Amino acid sequence: MKIGILGAGNIGGNLGRRWVAGGHEVLFGVRDAHNAKVQALLDEIGSDACAANVVDAFDYGEVVLLALPWQAVQETLEQAGDLLKGKILIDATNRLGAVAPGSLPSAAEDIAKWVPEARVVKAFNSLGAEHLLNTQFGSQQADTFICGDDEAAKAVVKQLAEDIGFGVIDAGSLSNAHLLESLAKLWITLSRRVGREIAFKLLQR
Ligand SMILES: NC(=O)c1ccc[n+]([C@@H]2O[C@H](COP(=O)([O-])OP(=O)(O)OC[C@H]3O[C@@H](n4cnc5c(N)ncnc54)[C@H](OP(=O)(O)O)[C@@H]3O)[C@@H](O)[C@H]2O)c1
Repeated sequence: MKIGILGAGNIGGNLGRRWVAGGHEVLFGVRDAHNAKVQALLDEIGSDACAANVVDAFDYGEVVLLALPWQAVQETLEQAGDLLKGKILIDATNRLGAVAPGSLPSAAEDIAKWVPEARVVKAFNSLGAEHLLNTQFGSQQADTFICGDDEAAKAVVKQLAEDIGFGVIDAGSLSNAHLLESLAKLWITLSRRVGREIAFKLLQR
């Protein structure tokens, strides 16, 4: 699958690494494709990854991952034009800090409002980015919690998450995204108390 990744930092870089290792192709949409950090990432990943501008990433991806600081999300999505029409848009962002007046209850719902033609799925936001490289905690695999309104889109994201070793818990519709975003805040709070070697898992019987 061709995946456009907006942002080549902790989240974008690590998911790009894993997805290419799993047989996918990735184009990172970045501000400066010649930046030394981006070039080092590409050198490490190999020829199934490349970098270009953000519009190219919207165009390239059958699936597009948003892995940008929240402050950059709206202005970046404004550049998408029709390119996200019908595409799966994975939102891995967290909207930390003060929330702008008029915002919806979650970042993911704001994103869906800004690009209504995209099929938004929230995922990969509720644990530290380093764990995307290794989702195994002893004998347990970390869970990623996903939500969205398009069942077919969620099935694709579930597979992309399982491809890199996650258990996947479907938390329902996009209106539940605020719960996943609160889970991320809980992860951050706990990581400051007990360290970052933590992840959430839903126990079921
Ligand atoms: N880090 C975590 O553990 C973690 C966990 C879960 C969720 N998240 C969320 O995931 C998102 C990304 O976090 P991250 O840790 O991956 O961030 P990061 O390491 O700082 O990477 C951000 C990426 O976005 C790019 N970027 C910044 N401003 C941009 C703009 N205006 N236009 C285009 N690209 C821009 C940066 O490029 P430059 O190099 O050009 O600045 C960089 O490639 C955030 O919303 C964060 O809350 C992070």
